[in-house]
Amino acid sequence: MTRDTDAPSTDDVLPDGGDTVAEGADDVALDPWGSSTVADYRKLFEEFGIEEFDELLPEIPKPHYLMRRGVIFGHRDYRPVAAAMRNDEPFAVLSGFMPTGDPHIGHKLVFDEIIWHQQRGGDAYGLIADLEAHSARGLTWDEIDEHSRDYLLSLLALGFDPEEGELYRQSDNRELQDLAFELGIEANYSELQAIYGFDGETDVSHMQSVVTQMADILYPQLDEPKPTVIPVGPDQDPHIRLARDLATRMRFFKVTEAYASFEADDAERELLREAWDALSELAADRDGDTTVRCVHAAQYLAHGESAVDFEADRPSVDVPEIEESARASVVKKLQSAGMEPFRPRTRFFDRQATDEAFEALIDAVEGEKRVYEGHVDSFDLAPEAAEELARQVEVDHGGYGFIPPSSIYHRFMTGLTGGKMSSSVPASHISLLDDPEVGYDKVKSATTGGRETAEEQRELGGEADDCPVYELYAYLLANDDDGLATEVYEECVGGERLCGGCKEQAAELMREFLADHQEKREEARELLAELDIDLDSDRA
Ligand code: TRP
Ligand code: SF4
Repeated sequence: MTRDTDAPSTDDVLPDGGDTVAEGADDVALDPWGSSTVADYRKLFEEFGIEEFDELLPEIPKPHYLMRRGVIFGHRDYRPVAAAMRNDEPFAVLSGFMPTGDPHIGHKLVFDEIIWHQQRGGDAYGLIADLEAHSARGLTWDEIDEHSRDYLLSLLALGFDPEEGELYRQSDNRELQDLAFELGIEANYSELQAIYGFDGETDVSHMQSVVTQMADILYPQLDEPKPTVIPVGPDQDPHIRLARDLATRMRFFKVTEAYASFEADDAERELLREAWDALSELAADRDGDTTVRCVHAAQYLAHGESAVDFEADRPSVDVPEIEESARASVVKKLQSAGMEPFRPRTRFFDRQATDEAFEALIDAVEGEKRVYEGHVDSFDLAPEAAEELARQVEVDHGGYGFIPPSSIYHRFMTGLTGGKMSSSVPASHISLLDDPEVGYDKVKSATTGGRETAEEQRELGGEADDCPVYELYAYLLANDDDGLATEVYEECVGGERLCGGCKEQAAELMREFLADHQEKREEARELLAELDIDLDSDRA
């Protein structure tokens, strides 16, 4: 195994050891139902636009150890969640689990992430993706019932508070399925094909499980829109992107920045902004009329500042022969708008509002405004206030007003036998249900980043960055104790620590953890029984 030394989020003092190169994995494939491996986390930033989590650490009050150690390495749009946490405003956390086998130490990362956000004041949701397990993985309902109980018990044992939070099964949640149905109206087959590689053989229920997951992700916002974080592995990113898109498509109004009555796309808007910055200054220097008109902006964008003629009564502009481009199209639009004033404004575009909602919005816009066929322009409202207003009117008129959901991504754990940690290879992972002695033995026989001989190890130090045992310390066994994680790492790379003793210590900690966790699971049984979750499906 080689370590990608430039891997993001790797801290000098507490490297996370989170290299998860599986043999033969040389590409990033984000497939929610395939065997996702990530050979190079950098590609996730470059190719998929996931952002580095590290940069956010200063904005998070007392970050979780998984954040501090770079195990949580990436995010989409987590800032609003961090801000809500800091300001004691509503936010939510939700994640889901397919009950296909035993919950294992990889799932524990996600359980911990949910619980941590709950303890920070978030509305917390844990769901059992039983529809997905049944349709995409073919599990029977009996199997699903059994595994669901196990996931829920572990989540409760680790500290999820069911009085404050909500646990549900997809199959049991009527509100969720209604939302899924509504969201399905905004997604079509070609899109699912492009995102997930679905084809003519893909069964309809599998597709339905996708819209159900979209509904899961937006479910916390049914009572009111709020920032929501979805902690998942990077394989789930395609779902996150689609959910963010759908959240936007469901909105009544789109708030944009505009400069004249016509519509512009993002590239055109960029040019309009540039023209406004230059022309507003030029006009302000004039003695007489300081009005900037569309035709002036056309002159500016077509031929530059020297072509701008504020004096002419009927200024004209030759549209230059530029091939199809944003500049050519925006110049044409400006030219036909002619003497219309060119001024920045905040536009509320009617995407799919009811007539009443659009009327209500028009009334609610204070200050100077202009009403057009499919939009209303405000000259006094700043974009942020406008967003807020649009959402409020939408919610008051029966819309959802969704805020695009955020996500955080954790690294995949390396298997104890090297390569990928896989539920189907028992020796590669530790189940939360493993007998503590079995857990002890698995750690004792794990692959390490140790050298051939003890002498060599003392001389060169061990390779903690490539060691599944070190990973166990960093991801789980050291818990909140950064001192222990650092000590193991530094003693290892410094050659003071030998694998035999290191594994013995880890194995004992694992045995202790499992014994304690399983005791708490037993205690949680009563709690689970009191909850309103049906774990005996009568479906066959
Ligand atoms: N698809 C997820 C998995 O394979 C499970 C899931 C269903 C989920 N709904 C979700 C995860 C909502 C996060 C949020 O494990
Ligand atoms: Fe891994 Fe510990 Fe050996 Fe270092 S000493 S390589 S951390 S088992």
